[in-house]
Amino acid sequence: MSPLRNRIAVLHGVNLDMLGRRDPAHYGTLTLAELEQRVVEFGHELELEVSCFQTNSEAAFVEHLHGLPTRADGVVLNPGAWTHYAWAIHDALEIAGLPAVEVHLSNIDEREGWRALSVVRDLVTACVMGQGVEGYREALVRLSKELG
Ligand code: DQA
Repeated sequence: MSPLRNRIAVLHGVNLDMLGRRDPAHYGTLTLAELEQRVVEFGHELELEVSCFQTNSEAAFVEHLHGLPTRADGVVLNPGAWTHYAWAIHDALEIAGLPAVEVHLSNIDEREGWRALSVVRDLVTACVMGQGVEGYREALVRLSKELG
């Protein structure tokens, strides 16, 4: 039998530590700690082991991605505003080489034009947007099916 592949790294980027203080119309009212707790619970329901990480440093985000292959089987990432311009994050995700799903709390396709570009879109198997915290459940379901 193949070893269980159930370790999911959930990565949040710049300004997502400010959830709870950001526009609730886009981002809801949960703090990051509350959101992460929900995501860990979604993981339990799906028999996934979820670990969470957030940073406002692009270098730390990139270095975290570099180290992931030994610690995780799949990635859920919401890079925040880096999504739209941080090509170094594209390259680091490519280096990590893990199945990945992109999540956004808000619907980035229906906001300012500059938010419609995602630098990681060609590397992810799915992008879930505009579903708030429930989008993370959807992302975990997608990854769990892929890791099978
Ligand atoms: C976000 C959308 C981004 O455009 C924004 O810069 C964020 C959060 C979201 O989750 O909806 O910080 O990634």
